Amino acid sequence: MPYKTKAETITGKMNGRTREDQEVKMKVVNTARQLRETIISEKKPDGTTGFVPTMGALHQGHLSLVRICKNQNDLTVVSIFVNPTQFNDPNDLRNYPRMPEKDIALLEGTGCDVVFMPDVKEIYPEPDRRTFDFGGLDEVMEGKHRPGHFNGVAQVVTRLFRIVEPQRVYFGLKDFQQLAILKKVVKDSNLPVELIACPIVREPDGLALSSRNILLTPEQRTHATRISQTLFMAREMMESHTPDEIRMFVTERINQDPLLQTEYFEIVNDTTLKPVRSWSETCGKIGCVAVKVGRIRLIDNINFSS
Ligand code: PAJ
Repeated sequence: MPYKTKAETITGKMNGRTREDQEVKMKVVNTARQLRETIISEKKPDGTTGFVPTMGALHQGHLSLVRICKNQNDLTVVSIFVNPTQFNDPNDLRNYPRMPEKDIALLEGTGCDVVFMPDVKEIYPEPDRRTFDFGGLDEVMEGKHRPGHFNGVAQVVTRLFRIVEPQRVYFGLKDFQQLAILKKVVKDSNLPVELIACPIVREPDGLALSSRNILLTPEQRTHATRISQTLFMAREMMESHTPDEIRMFVTERINQDPLLQTEYFEIVNDTTLKPVRSWSETCGKIGCVAVKVGRIRLIDNINFSS
């Protein structure tokens, strides 16, 4: 069921109130039509729309994207949609945290203009049968461990682009491979949109913020600190160690903790996502890790470019 709010009722003018009467500035809409109408009525004719796609359970990482977007555009649209086509594990989809009221309250504090919260039928009136060619970018790391995941991401993101028609879209570097793949989709399909990469926001102890962190037990949460801590140590070691030595170090150090199990750690070229063999390679280098903490899967990465 789509989430209904007071703000959306007002936007729909169902009770005959005009825009001047609105006590809630931020609009919450559930349909593509309402969204288009709101954008048309809110945006200056030559203004830009900035867009932040999310799956909700918002935290300061998401909100940092919204703030950057807000600074660079006339109108800021945030979507909250738990996209079923990008979940290869039905349990993960079922357990994915959903907290729409809290999300709306958080977004109200950021100056977001419009929140788009569609239901599945609104985004997929028919099943999406498109298969994207990512030129192998989806065959490593996340793609290898989550078959079909990036195809689902590309499906939803291109659908959302068509509805929102943004000039700029904001993604976190936390999901580094997602960003690399979406850059390719935008380039290959010549989509008239600029992708903006935003820095990873971390907890004070270094853990990268993630909607999944709230699923960790207090004990798991304490142990999860080791993931980013190990990446930071690896970054310090790069002067005196080869990429392969760093690979071994990161995997072993994380796995020494009985609560953590590394799925992969790769140091890759930041564009091709091919493994980096030597620090002398003249490309951007990024170390990406996925770790299982009990049944919860966390990802993180660190920049190895000097
Ligand atoms: P979600 O995991 O909700 O993330 C939404 C955006 O927030 C992504 O661009 C992600 O990289 C960014 N983000 C998450 N944690 C962050 C952190 N700690 N610091 C900075 N940015 C962070 O990514 C998705 O949703 C979905 O795949 C989506 C693109 C919405 C398509 O369904």
